Amino acid sequence: MSVCNKDGIMKIVAIQSSPRGKDSNTLKLLNAALEGVTAAGGETELIDITKLNIKYCTACNVCYKTGVCPIKDDYNSVLEKLLSADGIIWSSPNYMANVTAQLKTLFDRSPNVTHEQLFDGKYGFSLTTAGSRDVNFVLDIMNAFMRICGGNSIGGVGCAMVQGQSAMEAAIGRSYEMGRDLVEAIREKRKYPEQEAVHKAWREGFRNIIIANKEQWTHNVDHWISKGWM
Ligand SMILES: Cc1cc2nc3c(=O)[nH]c(=O)nc-3n(C[C@H](O)[C@H](O)[C@H](O)COP(=O)(O)O)c2cc1C
Repeated sequence: MSVCNKDGIMKIVAIQSSPRGKDSNTLKLLNAALEGVTAAGGETELIDITKLNIKYCTACNVCYKTGVCPIKDDYNSVLEKLLSADGIIWSSPNYMANVTAQLKTLFDRSPNVTHEQLFDGKYGFSLTTAGSRDVNFVLDIMNAFMRICGGNSIGGVGCAMVQGQSAMEAAIGRSYEMGRDLVEAIREKRKYPEQEAVHKAWREGFRNIIIANKEQWTHNVDHWISKGWM
């Protein structure tokens, strides 16, 4: 579990997944959030996954045995950065009432992050923009990913562009404040009892699945034992 870096500075990694680069509406929210992080004393790194080579998961199940995805591309270096972070900001435009394919591909490459609950102790939040609808639905997709990987989400900010410039300006302001609040949440080790209850119930349910696959999923078993979950 990462509480903060050795030098005491909170490290926040932000994932940007809009293919529209600097013209991205969602990136405007993300940049504001990162300004908020910096204002609160955190250190930031933005990863533009649309510029990276991240292939599809092939369901080979090797990561459960070794702890490492065997596909040779940029995924493992992104995961390393996420695991070294104290906080994670997820961002995606609404594409077909979902996240972009780029972000979904990153999520799908992460079954071992779920199996081993590798975001345990981390905090995050989510950002989206949409043409007109399903803002909260898309935020929930990203926050659910954080949750099934063992992390806690402090919330989300979204904007439907159809609502106009003043709505976007308000969302930019809320993104800045949420960036600041993320650093605070990490600093004070904020408790989210409802989310912790979800993590506990998930682990209770998944323990039997790990046990049933213990001959194959050897890395998972060692990790669960080291965490005291079995
Ligand atoms: C492929 C694609 C699918 C989209 N699907 C939706 C959608 O289902 N609902 C919606 O309200 N907007 C949809 N939009 C509009 C975008 O969500 C919106 O323009 C958003 O602000 C783009 O963010 P970006 O500038 O960060 O890329 C879609 C846009 C594209 C290109």
